[in-house]
Amino acid sequence: MSDKQNPTQTPDTGHVWDGNLRELTNQPPKWWMNTLYLSGIFVVIYFILYPSIPLLNGWTKGILGWTQMKRLNETMAEIEEIRAPYENKLKGMSAAAILADEELSNYVVASAKVLFGDRCAPCHGTGGAGNPGFPVLADDDWLYGGSIDSIQQSISNGRKGMMPGFGAMLSEQQLDDLSKHVVAMSKGEEYAPGKELFVSQGCIGCHGMDGKGIQMMGSANLTDAIWRFAPGGEESVKYTIRYGVNSGAEGARNAVMPSFKDKLTETEIKKLAVYVYKLGGGQ
Ligand code: HEC
Ligand code: HEC
Repeated sequence: MSDKQNPTQTPDTGHVWDGNLRELTNQPPKWWMNTLYLSGIFVVIYFILYPSIPLLNGWTKGILGWTQMKRLNETMAEIEEIRAPYENKLKGMSAAAILADEELSNYVVASAKVLFGDRCAPCHGTGGAGNPGFPVLADDDWLYGGSIDSIQQSISNGRKGMMPGFGAMLSEQQLDDLSKHVVAMSKGEEYAPGKELFVSQGCIGCHGMDGKGIQMMGSANLTDAIWRFAPGGEESVKYTIRYGVNSGAEGARNAVMPSFKDKLTETEIKKLAVYVYKLGGGQ
């Protein structure tokens, strides 16, 4: 260790490292000290103005009365202000008129997205992609029609297609023949013995002579290989024919679109109709 010390040098604290690195007692630079004092003052002012110190049951509120909830409400009010002109316009317009106005319908699609996610996606899937037992809303295959009016009707009044079960009326052989015919139709073919039954048992009354379905009844199109009741194929088709849809019979397929008339405002329903239309399948 070196003991040669310069007496004019700043006094040190007596701490020495590595043999000759001495810790001096110099004050930190002035700018540094000033910054330290300023930060202290800032903290005190902040504590006075804003909520800060946690207490046993609550916290100091600060004299400005600032709260996160207040800030949130202010932000919401600002958003409402931007929305108001659009929202007022929507009230007096039909869904079809909204659809025809590009700026408005863009606004509506953006604002209905959350609504759809909350109220519709649990059944119809995100973006209307469908779920087992719940129809896809993003394609152009419609049970009840893809016009803006029928979509609005579906949402407002709900839908409940009805098909009786044929299990008690038909033999296993007949059920098999019908199922074979339905599956054949979905491939653009036919199965003669089943085709005869399709006519004589009155299937055509609801599904149409060509099996393409009648939208007024919401009877499925049987020729498009898009199955309402998965997985399709003979077994699952036979099940539908045996028990029916919403027929009240035990085992019947269940297919109820709830009515939203009392759960949503008319404007919300119009917004959702435009949103669904614009998912891609509107006609
Ligand atoms: C509890 C589940 C459920 C909820 C929630 C629901 N739906 Fe449905 N929706 C259905 C079912 C089931 C059908 C098919 C009815 C049928 O087969 O007859 C349907 C049918 C529809 C149809 C007719 C589709 C077609 O092919 O013609 C539209 C449009 C529709 N829903 C829109 C909506 C919208 C928009 C919402 C949200 C406000 C919504 N649904 C919420 C179950 C639901
Ligand atoms: C009273 C009207 C009615 C009659 C009669 C009827 N159906 Fe249906 N059918 C419907 C409706 C409504 C649906 C359900 C569509 C929905 O809600 O998704 C349906 C659905 C089906 C399905 C399910 C399609 C799918 O995509 O999963 C099959 C298969 C079917 N019917 C076959 C038949 C056959 C075969 C007959 C004659 C034995 C028949 N239906 C008679 C109204 C009828």
